[in-house]
Amino acid sequence: MSKLFSSIDFKGVTLKNRIVMAPMCMYSCMAEDGKITPFHVTHYTSRAVGQVGLIMLEATAVQPTGRISPQDLGIWNDEHIEGLKALNEQLHHYGSKTAIQLAHAGRKAQLDSTIYAPSPLAFSESYKTPKEMTEEDIKETMEAFKTAARRAKQANFDVVELHAAHGYLINQFLSPLTNNRTDQYGGARENRYRFLEEIISAVKQEWTGPLFVRISTNEYATGSNTMDDFLYYAKKMHEQDVDLIDCSSGGVVPASIQAYPGYQVPRCETIKREAGIATGAVGLITTGVQAEEIIQNDRADLVFLARVLLRDPYWPRTAANELNEKLSAPKQYERGW
Ligand SMILES: Cc1cc2nc3c(=O)[nH]c(=O)nc-3n(C[C@H](O)[C@H](O)[C@H](O)COP(=O)(O)O)c2cc1C
Repeated sequence: MSKLFSSIDFKGVTLKNRIVMAPMCMYSCMAEDGKITPFHVTHYTSRAVGQVGLIMLEATAVQPTGRISPQDLGIWNDEHIEGLKALNEQLHHYGSKTAIQLAHAGRKAQLDSTIYAPSPLAFSESYKTPKEMTEEDIKETMEAFKTAARRAKQANFDVVELHAAHGYLINQFLSPLTNNRTDQYGGARENRYRFLEEIISAVKQEWTGPLFVRISTNEYATGSNTMDDFLYYAKKMHEQDVDLIDCSSGGVVPASIQAYPGYQVPRCETIKREAGIATGAVGLITTGVQAEEIIQNDRADLVFLARVLLRDPYWPRTAANELNEKLSAPKQYERGW
């Protein structure tokens, strides 16, 4: 029996299999209003027809100044709810559960407006120098995450994920490479964690469903967070009743990364084992056998797939064939399945 195709429950939300569509920015809001377009509906619904268990929407900005680009998806306004809700209805129709990745780009925003970060350090020469966030800016941003969680609930998402990876705003607070603050949000790791800690608490006031957090488990630079730090953060999140840590890596500072099949899985496995929290593995997971090995050996509870799902929206079917599993088809497709 394949474990990849077994169901799993998070706070009463049952995913029909362990396959997650990883968040992928599509930069497709051409009107620059953050709203769902027909492209998004086609793009995500194709993967729901393809039987992906959990479809996670791309990094979705909680504030306009937190967008990576002007074409990012947004959830900073009540006007965003309608499109997201209609999309969810489609995805649920095909049996997928849905998630939204709440995001703020911080110093990695490429916008004309002022950009914000814990410290006034540019990511590289081609990025703007951000404004150091005041306590008031911090409070506003937390409020934005909280309000976004309320909108996610109104739009009928099943899962919320906080984007604390890839060098975006939350990650900038967590990492000693990007956080030079001398107040209660900087310095020791207890302080660097505070921003995420308070966002989790704020979001939980509005959102009682499953909560995932994506972190970068390796910063590929000297002076960065260590595995001991990541375990400290993971244990704190577990205490805060976060349901799963989605274990990615990189993006904090410019660095060259040697990527190979499953390159992020060992750290994901360590976090699962040492912190006793469910984890999601991501990064060059491309075959059914590889995904099955990760789940069967308890190295992760979910596999997140990105680029392979761009190539093959019906990847679950491809994997099922590889693993001799029978996957049900949407009724209309039964004759060809
Ligand atoms: C087009 C594209 C857009 C991405 N956008 C996001 C994003 O919005 N949020 C995020 O956390 N990761 C993002 N990622 C990273 C993926 O979620 C994933 O972690 C990475 O691609 C490695 O998985 P893969 O080898 O299966 O592609 C993106 C990746 C791609 C290829």
